[in-house]
Amino acid sequence: MENGKKVMLSGIQPSGELHIGNYLGPLIHWPEMIEEYDCYFFLADLHTLTVRQEPAELRKRVLKLLANYIAVGLDPEKCTLFIQSHVPAHSQLSWVLNCYTMFGELSRMTQFKDKSAKHADNINAGLFTYPVLMAADILIYQPDFVPVGEDQRQHVEICRDIAERFNGIYGETFKVPEPYISKVGARIMSLNQPESKMSKSAPEGCVFLLDKPEDIMRKFKRAITDSDTENCVRYDPEHKPGVANLMQIYGSATGKTYEEIEREFDGLGYGAFKPAVGEAVVETLRPIREETERLLADKAYLESVYRAGAEKAAYVAGKTLRKVYKKVGLVER
Ligand code: TRP
Repeated sequence: MENGKKVMLSGIQPSGELHIGNYLGPLIHWPEMIEEYDCYFFLADLHTLTVRQEPAELRKRVLKLLANYIAVGLDPEKCTLFIQSHVPAHSQLSWVLNCYTMFGELSRMTQFKDKSAKHADNINAGLFTYPVLMAADILIYQPDFVPVGEDQRQHVEICRDIAERFNGIYGETFKVPEPYISKVGARIMSLNQPESKMSKSAPEGCVFLLDKPEDIMRKFKRAITDSDTENCVRYDPEHKPGVANLMQIYGSATGKTYEEIEREFDGLGYGAFKPAVGEAVVETLRPIREETERLLADKAYLESVYRAGAEKAAYVAGKTLRKVYKKVGLVER
């Protein structure tokens, strides 16, 4: 804990580009969080190795995401931003924690089961011990909270179990963190399949933060509205999920309420509404895209950010690692 603030930590897998589902959901609240908490955010590059990566692509993607996160408001002066592989203590603690994690508990992880089914030709040991590295990522900073999506809740649970088990054997060593599942965050659905969440795996229904304006406009113009013939902008998520989703996006981008949106498009229909949503999103994303491009052109600055981040993180992580090594009986160097 620094200056009395609670500590928060989260890792981001650099496995794809950020889209407006990420942005209007959890991400948009992060700039407020860095004011309130002592925050650590890192790009979990080691975790992505559990699935085969194109090396040059991975390297580029990590820097692009770093720039993108700074551009959406993660000011590196106000939080600790770093790359997981730059702080070796994560991997070192992970080995120790492997010895306090049971084969049975890892076998029960739903993500392991899902990913093994999806990558049946590459069910590697890293996929199996993924939650242990994640537990090490977390416990090494002694955070109070770990903001994650619902899909990661089970991983935070096993992290708590590992911490409690270790503390039970060796006495208080790790703080047992709480998951922090974002309170409000919009749940943005796919533009062409409004019954599923917006996802990079269905790119035509997904608007990426770095998409060009013409691509954004095309995606919105082709967005699915609803199958009734009403042609009326009205908020009814149950019967008109496509329209409700567009209204949610438009509302987040403009700050307008659903009633205001209904009034604005009264009598105008979807033909006017869809491009208006597209334009609002283009304008919301424009400064983010421009700032990301500016940062990507300034490699020296990005390097200074991730170096300073790793240095600060390594200092904190080193303290926990030394404590753990000592507790389990390793000889101090
Ligand atoms: N597994 C997380 C995800 O896929 C990423 C992650 C890695 C993480 N280490 C973490 C998240 C530590 C929170 C804390 O989203």
